[in-house]
Amino acid sequence: MTRRLGADTSGIAEAASLLRSGRLVAFPTETVYGLGADATDDRAVAAVFEAKGRPHFNPLIVHAADAAGAFALGRADERAERLAQAFWPGPLTLVLPCRRDCPVALLARSGLETVALRVPAHPVALALLRAAAVPVAAPSANRSGAVSPTAPQHVLEDLAGRIEAVVDGGACPIGVESTVLDLSGPVPVLLRPGGATIEAIEEVIGPVARPLAPEAAEASRTLRSPGLLVSHYAPVLPVRLLAERAGEDEALLAFGPEVPLAPLAFNLSERGDLAEAAARLFSGLRFLDAEGRARGLRRIAAMPVPSSGLGLAINDRLKRAAAPR
Ligand code: TXA
Ligand code: MG
Repeated sequence: MTRRLGADTSGIAEAASLLRSGRLVAFPTETVYGLGADATDDRAVAAVFEAKGRPHFNPLIVHAADAAGAFALGRADERAERLAQAFWPGPLTLVLPCRRDCPVALLARSGLETVALRVPAHPVALALLRAAAVPVAAPSANRSGAVSPTAPQHVLEDLAGRIEAVVDGGACPIGVESTVLDLSGPVPVLLRPGGATIEAIEEVIGPVARPLAPEAAEASRTLRSPGLLVSHYAPVLPVRLLAERAGEDEALLAFGPEVPLAPLAFNLSERGDLAEAAARLFSGLRFLDAEGRARGLRRIAAMPVPSSGLGLAINDRLKRAAAPR
C-alpha cells in the first residue's frame, strides 16, 4: 500500500525519514510530482528505475535544497553561478561535470561524467530536501513513457503499490518539467525546453544552442540527453497535432477562445494564456485519454499552440505524445 502523507510538519518529517532509510517517496515540485530517492543510495536509485519501468540509460535529476548543496555535487563555472542566482530555486536543471568525490550513485547518472542538478521552488519540496539532508534523485513520478503527474491522484494512478508514499501538496503550479541545460561543454545546449524559458536564460548567459529536432537526434544517435526519447509523455490514445477541428471519433485538446464543436473537449486556456496552458497540459491529456476511451473515441486531436515562451515546452511534450510508438 502506498501511503498518502500530508504536507504538514509531521508528514514532511515522515517522508524525510522514509527517504533516509532508502524508500521511495513522491513529492510535489512547482513543475511536476517527483519520485524521490536518496541519490547516494545505489539500491534506492535502482528501485526508482524499477518502479517507473525506466530504461537504465536515462539518468535522473538530483535535487538539492540550495545552490551550495547542488554545487557540492557538480562543478559550477561562472555561467552556472549566474543562472543559479537568477533561476534557483526554480524550474531550471543544470547539467554539470561531476566533482571527483561526487557521492551521487553512478546509476542515477547512468554512468555519465556529468550530473543534472536542480533546486526546486515548491515550499514542500524545499522543506523535504532540508529535512532529508541528502541529495534526492527524482524523475517525474509516472510510469516511464506515460504522461507526467501534476497531482497526487496522477501519481497514485501510475505508481500505487510500487512506492512507499506520496506527499500531498495539491496541484503543481507550473505543470511542465524543468528546462534542462547542458553546461558541461563550452557552448550551453538546451536539452529539454521546460518551465524556465529559453528567452529568459539567454538574457542571463547569451546564446544557447537549440537541440536537434528529436527525430533527427534519434536517427543520428547524437542524443546528448538519453532521456529525450521521441515517444514520451504518451497517453494511451494516439495524438494528432495541429488540428483545426476534431473528427467524430476524436477528443479535442483545445487552446484559445475559438473552439470548434467536438465530441469531447478540454481547453488548455480559453484566454490563450501559455502559463495556464502549461499548468493544465498533463491533466488535460490524462482527462481526454481516460474519458475519451470510456466514450469509445479513437484519438486526441490537439489544436496548435504558439511556440514562444512556455509554448516551446508545451509543443515539445505534444510532439513526443504524438510520436510513433
Ligand atoms: O521538473 C523536473 O525536472 C522534474 C521534477 C520532479 O524535478 N523531474 C524530471 O525528471 O522531469 P526526469 O527524470 O523525468 O527527466 C530528467 C531529464 C531527462 O531528459 C534526462 O535525460 C535528463 O534530464 N538528464 C538527467 N541527467 C542528465 C545528464 N547527466 N546529462 C544529460 N541529461 C540528463
Ligand atoms: Mg519524466
